[in-house]
Amino acid sequence: MYWVRGFGGLLVLIGFLVMLYNLFKTAQSAEKNSAPLVYKAYALAKDHKKESGHRHLEGLPAIFTILAVIAVLVGSAIEILPSLMAKNWIEKDARVKPYTPLELAGRDIYISEGCYVCHSQMIREMGHEVLRYGPASEASESIYDHPFQWGSRRIGPDLARVGGKYNHTWHYRHMLQPREVVPSSLMPEYSWLFKKKTDFAILTKKVNVMRSLGVPYTEAEAQSAGADALVQATQIVAEMQSDGIEESMKNKQIIALIAYLQRLGTDLLQPLDETSESEQ
Ligand code: HEC
Repeated sequence: MYWVRGFGGLLVLIGFLVMLYNLFKTAQSAEKNSAPLVYKAYALAKDHKKESGHRHLEGLPAIFTILAVIAVLVGSAIEILPSLMAKNWIEKDARVKPYTPLELAGRDIYISEGCYVCHSQMIREMGHEVLRYGPASEASESIYDHPFQWGSRRIGPDLARVGGKYNHTWHYRHMLQPREVVPSSLMPEYSWLFKKKTDFAILTKKVNVMRSLGVPYTEAEAQSAGADALVQATQIVAEMQSDGIEESMKNKQIIALIAYLQRLGTDLLQPLDETSESEQ
């Protein structure tokens, strides 16, 4: 195979050399001191002033520019204003809560590993999507997501409601070696998440960034973010202990990522009444 590829590469290289030779010969054969070519615009038609409507406007550059700018501004306003004002008409749902600090850490791993390149998080209203992935996504579910992870491509399945679909160990093994769990999978493996540590100390800062964006964490929640994340990570690892996963894994990135994946799309499954608070 390497010989064939080498041969192909050689052909390309030879083509390149021929091109250089061609350029050189062309430059050499150019007439010396010849005047540069000048292209002339056609003269305006005699009766162009009589043109009406758009053509006439185009003949008045200053006015046309001003009108074009106004048109673009109005168009932009129509596009941008609804999204700037979206807060006013997205119905809040009391069941949608901000991510826990560990989930926030997992979400940043999701973003930095580029999972959104292959996975969307947006179930559309269409029947086949709802059948496959579950109830369509609602705007209220994304209000604390900065930036949202709706995505634009589905090389893998939508993940908007993947939370609770599998157990922790499934995700653990799937991230380590996808083909061990789904033989035909073409998802890459993420073995480094099993070695790299979650930065618990930085979580207070991350929570504060979210607060500055309007996510309703309290000051106390920001302060205890690192400790709270460790508690949740310990719990997740404990739930996997019967599958032989060691407690020492609790500070690895894979656990934060699992926490995030297990949260996705689960908020609206909580009961509506306020007693669900105690369950957190
Ligand atoms: C190159 C594209 C690609 C990338 C990048 C990718 N995945 Fe996947 N993913 C897939 C494909 C394809 C599947 C379906 C086969 C399978 O389950 O392995 C899948 C399946 C999954 C599933 C199971 C979904 C279900 O409902 O069965 C999860 C969870 C998942 N990926 C998470 C992730 C996470 C987290 C990342 C980033 C760390 C990631 N993926 C990156 C392609 C990708």
